[in-house]
Amino acid sequence: MALREIIILPDKRLRSVCKPVAEINDETRALVADMFETMYEAPGIGLAAIQIGVPSRVIVMDLSKREAEAEPRVFINPEITWSSEETSLYEEGCLSIPDIHEDVERPSRVKIRYLDLDGNRQEEDAEGLFATCIQHEVDHLNGILFIDHISKLKRERIIKKFAKAAKRAKQEA
Ligand code: NI
Repeated sequence: MALREIIILPDKRLRSVCKPVAEINDETRALVADMFETMYEAPGIGLAAIQIGVPSRVIVMDLSKREAEAEPRVFINPEITWSSEETSLYEEGCLSIPDIHEDVERPSRVKIRYLDLDGNRQEEDAEGLFATCIQHEVDHLNGILFIDHISKLKRERIIKKFAKAAKRAKQEA
């Protein structure tokens, strides 16, 4: 396992449409292990492979509140097959957009289909934080960020802030 660097806005790779995993093999398992290590260290509750620069449709998640009750979950090639009309508002953040939190409205419930790490097809209903988190992470696989769901004014302000910070970091390097 290795700790990987999390890529940050405005890194263009965050806008990639990621490729499905063709075969679950040692490389996939190593990627997942690195993603968990990186997510727990951050710390965060969900991470998409593209956030460590790998354009693959792989998500890791752990929504448990306590370390002793860790509930690591892996979603390979996930698809949202149904979304409720009813929506919920959650304050979202993202490890690739540090220190920014904004309310995002999304369907309250979704149905998902994915492969687990053993390659078994899984179908599940998600609601609450799980529904929000899986939608946020599936968005990453399609190059969509949570700030794309907020007002244009707020989004542009955030993008500008991160572009400035990146420029400053480059000058200092
Ligand atoms: Ni995110």
